[in-house]
Amino acid sequence: MRFLLSWCQTVSLGLLGVSAVHAASLSTDAQALFDQSMTIQDAIYDPVASYLHYFYYPLAAGPHETRSSVWHSAGLLQRNQGNDLQEAVKILEKVIGDQEKNMSVQWYGDYTVYPEQPTVGSPAYPPVIYNSWDPNWRGFIGTALIVIYEEYGDLLPDTVQNLILESLYNNTVGDTYRVGGVDGDNLYPAYSNAWLMRTVVGSWTGRKFQDANMTTTGDTSAREFLALFDCNGTLSEFNGPTYAGVSLYALTIAAKYLGTTNSTIGQNAARVIREIWDYESLLWNANLRNFAGPWDRSYGYDMNKYVAIMSLWVWSLTGKTTAFEETSPIWTMTHADDFEISPLVAILSEFHKTLLSDSVLSRLTSFPGEHTYSGHAYAPPADLEPRNITTWLSANLTIGTDSFNQSVVGGYSEDSTSFSPSVVQWLRPDGSIGYFNLYPTETALQATVAPYELSLTYPLGNSTSSFTFVLASNPLGAKRDINGFDDVDGLQIEVVGGTVDPVPKISFCGLAGGACDIVHDFEFWNLTFTMPANSSDIPSIQFKFAL
Ligand SMILES: *[C@@H]1O[C@H](CO)[C@@H](O)[C@H](O)[C@H]1NC(C)=O
Ligand SMILES: *[C@@H]1O[C@H](CO)[C@@H](O)[C@H](O)[C@H]1NC(C)=O
Ligand SMILES: *[C@@H]1O[C@H](CO)[C@@H](O)[C@H](O)[C@H]1NC(C)=O
Ligand SMILES: *[C@@H]1O[C@H](CO)[C@@H](O)[C@H](O)[C@H]1NC(C)=O
Ligand SMILES: *[C@@H]1O[C@H](CO)[C@@H](O)[C@H](O)[C@H]1NC(C)=O
Ligand SMILES: *[C@@H]1O[C@H](CO)[C@@H](O)[C@H](O)[C@H]1NC(C)=O
Ligand SMILES: *[C@@H]1O[C@H](CO)[C@@H](O)[C@H](O)[C@H]1NC(C)=O
Ligand SMILES: *[C@@H]1O[C@H](CO)[C@@H](O)[C@H](O)[C@H]1NC(C)=O
Ligand SMILES: *[C@@H]1O[C@H](CO)[C@@H](O)[C@H](O)[C@H]1NC(C)=O
Ligand SMILES: *[C@@H]1O[C@H](CO)[C@@H](O)[C@H](O)[C@H]1NC(C)=O
Ligand SMILES: *[C@@H]1O[C@H](CO)[C@@H](O)[C@H](O)[C@H]1NC(C)=O
Repeated sequence: MRFLLSWCQTVSLGLLGVSAVHAASLSTDAQALFDQSMTIQDAIYDPVASYLHYFYYPLAAGPHETRSSVWHSAGLLQRNQGNDLQEAVKILEKVIGDQEKNMSVQWYGDYTVYPEQPTVGSPAYPPVIYNSWDPNWRGFIGTALIVIYEEYGDLLPDTVQNLILESLYNNTVGDTYRVGGVDGDNLYPAYSNAWLMRTVVGSWTGRKFQDANMTTTGDTSAREFLALFDCNGTLSEFNGPTYAGVSLYALTIAAKYLGTTNSTIGQNAARVIREIWDYESLLWNANLRNFAGPWDRSYGYDMNKYVAIMSLWVWSLTGKTTAFEETSPIWTMTHADDFEISPLVAILSEFHKTLLSDSVLSRLTSFPGEHTYSGHAYAPPADLEPRNITTWLSANLTIGTDSFNQSVVGGYSEDSTSFSPSVVQWLRPDGSIGYFNLYPTETALQATVAPYELSLTYPLGNSTSSFTFVLASNPLGAKRDINGFDDVDGLQIEVVGGTVDPVPKISFCGLAGGACDIVHDFEFWNLTFTMPANSSDIPSIQFKFAL
């Protein structure tokens, strides 16, 4: 953690968050989330295979799927009607039966991605991390097994309880093989959601087995996470609509089941959850049903059009209509497979809600009025220094940006399709959401935000740099074609300064045609501003907006 010391002071940690373990009772909102997700899952459950059908992006012809089946088993145990218990037992036996048992391989203790897959590491099926095997499945499935054991263990036969424990033991040992930068792995403390899941699984399992080495490893990982988090009370994986939801899920398990122990993550989880919601609730715009930007690792440009796990938390806390448009059935949305985690969110949500203040819940329900959020996030090794975040939120328009200086293009995950460092969103006349977001192409950005204003500079850019913006298509009934900013529905956009040529090249990245590819299933207009030939200026562009 050498890179931390120059930027952050280590803050002494309060020992908060002692809370009692109690059984899952669901609020009306959490029950609705639970029921609606179980309706879809019941429809795609195959009792012959004891797995859910593969409802995972991209859809597949035939196979089943592993991780969602474990989520379903938690739902079955919570419901516990008819055959639910028997089916849950079958799922757990099947999934754990196929868990990797060869201690010499990098994916030891991991689960299949789908049960029909060839043997990982066989000649026809080379081990490719995040493809033929997914190291994060240990964390996702391990955390779900902890919830199952804690909440419903007494429903399960002793043999299955023991199988779960043995599975978690192997899972924990295998997960220690992960080292950021080694063998294609990227698990550093800044990879917040995956790091937290490993920390929680190891801390819980070590305690269960009274294995001092596992417990110590869990406590060390927790301290490494906290050293980054406490830099500025933010997740390194900042404001990710999907992955902040996973981090909250892992932390809730720590708070609920380890909160009364001396586990480091258990003792800090409740405090960290509160601090995350403190800033996330300031970034939430209830009128737009979106977290304002900037976003790390987002799977789309409008949370009304894809299923983000943070939307599921908001649903469980304050109701479906605060999180989703009533007119879009979940299974018509992109990333609908992420809805399959809903039983776990619902099961944990009542405990989770006890950790949140009324002011946080109130900001989720109704927009509190115009304000500006400023904060910092730090995700080494990609970040060479902490990022500065500024987001201006008004009732119907939000503008949020990162200033950053990074070692790679596309942020921590080196992915320009999911790193969204500059995001403008607005409410359009028909109630839908427009967006105008920078598509990152540079390793450094200086960004300033003021009400109705945005200014972007590439400090390391030159005459070959360009600013590419992802602009939402107009809604049905508004102009079909975009030939300039005058054609944008619901927002006036004006270039008021900068060193770029102020007339952009405009192209369309469409579902069924155009000049460029869709991003995370979102089609958009590509507005690209370039520098005048041979310019020696630093590339910059300034905008003014009006609703
Ligand atoms: C376990 O994996 C190692 C390394 O790939 C291999 O050499 C060994 O044969 C495997 N053992 C079994 C029992 O498959
Ligand atoms: C755990 O791993 C050991 C090998 O280390 C293996 O013998 C055992 O079957 C595994 N247990 C499960 C549940 O996969
Ligand atoms: C203790 O845990 C570390 C990983 O944190 C592992 O490398 C080591 O082999 C473990 N030692 C024992 C005795 O289990
Ligand atoms: C953390 O944020 C506060 C304001 O919220 C600021 O005063 C402080 O300098 C920040 N610390 C770091 C290390 O960025
Ligand atoms: C937690 O308590 C156990 C003994 O009950 C002790 O061995 C361990 O060091 C403690 N851990 C921490 C982080 O205080
Ligand atoms: C935001 O939009 C809503 C719906 O069109 C409208 O009723 C409201 O007056 C707008 N608020 C502001 C501050 O413009
Ligand atoms: C963030 O702000 C601080 C204080 O103004 C500044 O020193 C630092 O260079 C900024 N970082 C980035 C990446 O712009
Ligand atoms: C980025 O960070 C590096 C390392 O701290 C520093 O040398 C460089 O000047 C920074 N670049 C910018 C554009 O701030
Ligand atoms: C502009 O920057 C790019 C990327 O750093 C570099 O490859 C290119 O040579 C530079 N071009 C000029 C004209 O300086
Ligand atoms: C946007 O369009 C430019 C051409 O104007 C192209 O070079 C670039 O690859 C496009 N970017 C995306 C994300 O479609
Ligand atoms: C840009 O510089 C190149 C090489 O110096 C020159 O050939 C070209 O004519 C210049 N272009 C413009 C538009 O000035």
